[in-house]
Amino acid sequence: MTPSIPAHLVDPFQRRINYLRLSVTDRCDFRCVYCMAEDMQFVPRAQVLSLEELYRVAQAAVGLGISKIRLTGGEPLVRRNILWLAEQLGALPGLETLALTTNGSQLARLAQPLQQAGVSTLNISLDSLRPRRFRELTRTGDLHQVLAGIDAAVSSGFQRIKLNAVILNGRNDDEALDLVEFARQRGIDIAFIEEMPLGRIDEHSRRLSFCSSAELRRRIAQRYTLAALGDPAGNAGPARYFSMPDSATRVGFISPHSNNFCHLCNRVRLTVEGRLLLCLGNEHSVDLRPLLRRPGSTRQELAEAIVAALALKPEKHHFTHDDEPEILRFMNTTGG
Ligand code: 5AD
Ligand code: SF4
Repeated sequence: MTPSIPAHLVDPFQRRINYLRLSVTDRCDFRCVYCMAEDMQFVPRAQVLSLEELYRVAQAAVGLGISKIRLTGGEPLVRRNILWLAEQLGALPGLETLALTTNGSQLARLAQPLQQAGVSTLNISLDSLRPRRFRELTRTGDLHQVLAGIDAAVSSGFQRIKLNAVILNGRNDDEALDLVEFARQRGIDIAFIEEMPLGRIDEHSRRLSFCSSAELRRRIAQRYTLAALGDPAGNAGPARYFSMPDSATRVGFISPHSNNFCHLCNRVRLTVEGRLLLCLGNEHSVDLRPLLRRPGSTRQELAEAIVAALALKPEKHHFTHDDEPEILRFMNTTGG
């Protein structure tokens, strides 16, 4: 490598960037009310990166000191041949952690092979334990299929499994304690996420549905003793975690509204069309697809493009409680 390519990525605010989130598809078998509009426009196939192209970006990034990659979507497990990509990444020297975020619908079939491919940690979305409500929140999801997927994951030997619950006031805020109990029974972690204003939705008012982490924590602390921890995954990340004296389960809160964590940001995202997004809450991005598709383009050139993109990483997001989203892309094109 030439001297212009550093061994580590550092952004203009002196943050060390070592975590890449790869969106492998913007498609999903669910239509969660906070994530998607009912009739979504998906990225045209020709603009979707091939698995080989995604792998090339990952390879260049790992060469720049990225040590953790998360496969996300949309729903990553609806992408055909996703196991191939997981296997390639699982065998990539220098990559310490391969993680995956999923809605759980395909896990009954895929948990074991993913673990064998080298995926070490899973985030599984679960917003409700009531079948009818689960269907309402996901519009198409089947709770029993997801619960079977969670069971399969729990028995597959992952290093860490974490449930993600987006809590909406008046919709599922009454289930926070049940969800904690569900996680405790399985010895897995759970994080509660404040809804973020990504993409325009009409289904509910984000302002009225807002349920703060502080309020949830207050309710959970009425039943369980919570002791503050750092991030158990060891990354400077956005979640604040708590342990409980009588359980291995950790309870986290991801609070983009009430707790600005941007100064700890260690990540960038690649959208499935090959845009490197520098911030969840800003539009700053660099399109890597033309370079990826230019015949003969090299890993060195890709690395240089990634280094140059980092100079655009903004200092922080500016989420508000308005119903007008500032960010028009949805989470499924962002790489949740
Ligand atoms: N705000 C917060 N979380 C969201 N997710 C999707 N859209 C949003 C949003 N607008 C979450 C999902 C899943 C993860 C991929 O992102 O619930 O846990
Ligand atoms: Fe699909 Fe996840 Fe978005 Fe729900 S939150 S629609 S499961 S991508």
